[in-house]
Amino acid sequence: MKLWGGRFAAGKRDSLFEKFSESFSRDQRLILYDLRVNQVYVRHLGAAGVLNSREVRQLNRGLESLQSYVQSHPRWAQGQSSEDVHTWVEARLERESGAVARKLRTGRSRNDLVATESRLFTKDVAFELMKASLALMESLAGVARKHLDVVMPGFTHLQPAQPILFSHYLLAYFEMFLRDFERFALVRTRADELPLGAGALAGTAFPLNRDGLARQLGFARVARNSLDATSDRDFVCELLFACTLAMNHLSRIAEDVIIYSSPAFGYVELDNRYATGSSLMPQKKNPDSLELIRGKAAGALGRLTGMLALLKGLPLAYNRDLQEDKQALFEGADAARDSLQLAARIVETLRVNRERMRAATEIGFLTATDIADELVRRGVPFGEAHERVGELVRLCVARKKTLAEITHDEARRIIPSWDGHLARVAASAERSVERRKATGGTARVQVSRQIRWAGQTISQLRKKISSLS
Ligand code: ARG
Repeated sequence: MKLWGGRFAAGKRDSLFEKFSESFSRDQRLILYDLRVNQVYVRHLGAAGVLNSREVRQLNRGLESLQSYVQSHPRWAQGQSSEDVHTWVEARLERESGAVARKLRTGRSRNDLVATESRLFTKDVAFELMKASLALMESLAGVARKHLDVVMPGFTHLQPAQPILFSHYLLAYFEMFLRDFERFALVRTRADELPLGAGALAGTAFPLNRDGLARQLGFARVARNSLDATSDRDFVCELLFACTLAMNHLSRIAEDVIIYSSPAFGYVELDNRYATGSSLMPQKKNPDSLELIRGKAAGALGRLTGMLALLKGLPLAYNRDLQEDKQALFEGADAARDSLQLAARIVETLRVNRERMRAATEIGFLTATDIADELVRRGVPFGEAHERVGELVRLCVARKKTLAEITHDEARRIIPSWDGHLARVAASAERSVERRKATGGTARVQVSRQIRWAGQTISQLRKKISSLS
């Protein structure tokens, strides 16, 4: 069955092109949205005088029975073929309700229909992504609370830089996933607009109450311009961008934890559930879960750029190119949701090796800045202090010593004012951390504040989630 046969009655079809152009294999995922939109639409066709009340009842009975069939047969689409899900529904409805099914698409097009269903899907999936981001934020805040005072080396360029608290490190990711949560919420709000009633491009010629349609389909607003409504896929790009950025954040934390869980670092260990072994090397415990998250971030970026490229040259209004949005939309949303959920579990079950992290703060001269800062407090200009401490580090490297191991005599040759206090500054990662008390710093008092704030944020976001469910 075709929804456009008349014009082509005598023509032969090419099966390769049929297969090439069908979207049923993908957009069957929209089936419940299609049935729901149709149920509401049928009532509005009744109100607009296009259908009489008997026809409305007939069609809605047919749509309801299709709905229960689909819901009770998870493999309803198996062995079925159709140009797209909308065509399938109309064909099946004709079997259920008879010829009246052919009135279903009065005053509308698959162009406004598919835009409507894609927006409903996007709203739902953005909500799932909000929940998944929140779950990860909860894991991060939970582990940070539990290991508040664990000291570790902080890196820049992956070279040892300054000591930080592990909790501070985790809360940096909390900030990123909070921004992702907010972005998913915004994407949801932006998708919340009804295209139905825009027809193929120019609007509908039947007196449909679009405000009523919007209300009954759960949309916040009606799209103002029919050309835009049928051809706009900004909401898909925005969702994919939000997914891609979240995947980038996930990829970064995955990379960190892959490094930190390597025995050379040994800061953390993955729970066995999220690691795999090697078929050849019996000793291996590999962080495949994190590698796959990092790998899936590549696909996210590809889908986003693909989607932008898809849209850039399209003349107004609808073009069939737009059908290609579904794969990116579905796969992008699935991958981001699954990755966020999995990352939440990986973080939550991470074994934290506080001794290894503490020991690692003793290599890499992490307190060098603190020594220079202390000299500044004694009146030495920072540039001068920096130079001296650099020389001290050079001496340590030559003598294969840490800053804590250097003797007073050795230090005094470079820094004449070296004393017990400077030696303590050089030796203590904890003091270094504690000195960073200004807002946003890694001192315990500031990190505790961040943790309290994270807790309040989580309960606000939970409320937001339940207000939307
Ligand atoms: N399957 C199409 C899509 O997903 C909708 C059909 C619109 N087709 C058309 N020739 N106007 O975009």
